[in-house]
Amino acid sequence: MDFFEAVYKRHSYRGEFESTGVPKEDIVKILDAGIRAASGMNYQTVNFIAVMDPEKRRALHDLLPKKTTATAPVMIVVVTTEMQSPKGMSFEKEDYAAAVENVLLAVTALGYASVWIDGETHLEGRDRAMGKLLNVPEGWHVRCLLPVGVPKKQGAQAEKKPFEERVRFE
Ligand SMILES: Cc1cc2nc3c(=O)[nH]c(=O)nc-3n(C[C@H](O)[C@H](O)[C@H](O)COP(=O)(O)O)c2cc1C
Repeated sequence: MDFFEAVYKRHSYRGEFESTGVPKEDIVKILDAGIRAASGMNYQTVNFIAVMDPEKRRALHDLLPKKTTATAPVMIVVVTTEMQSPKGMSFEKEDYAAAVENVLLAVTALGYASVWIDGETHLEGRDRAMGKLLNVPEGWHVRCLLPVGVPKKQGAQAEKKPFEERVRFE
């Protein structure tokens, strides 16, 4: 799929996934796109955990019960660690946002769908529970969950405000 087609087709998919899995080689491609994202000072503070094990997926679903988490053949958990530049700057959040967008575009380009579950991951201590479940080492932060699979229904990107409202040429 052409890059711009992927940009336009990427959307937050919240429905059920087909039972067909995602081949490991596609998961590798998707996560390789993630690790190739830009990162502040090239510190590469973002790591991914691809959860394929059915029991662990069920446990993630128990923490975030949704159609996507009930049916996704793979769930990507995004984790970061803080690294401070010599001038005291830290880019954890920017780094993972860049990496997640790359992952979502790769997901779309390969014909899969996903949704960036982030806000809800931080409610009621879910991030900590996910960290415990997945043996996330001390000092690493669980940021978000991306369920990935073949969508049962085609969805569309949420409407965006007009270009002219958001872009200005000087
Ligand atoms: C930082 C961030 C947090 C998000 N958290 C959630 C979430 O917890 N649950 C969810 O269903 N979608 C979440 N989303 C997806 C947004 O709701 C979605 O991107 C937005 O509504 C626009 O729709 P689109 O992705 O189809 O363009 C999040 C997106 C971002 C960037």
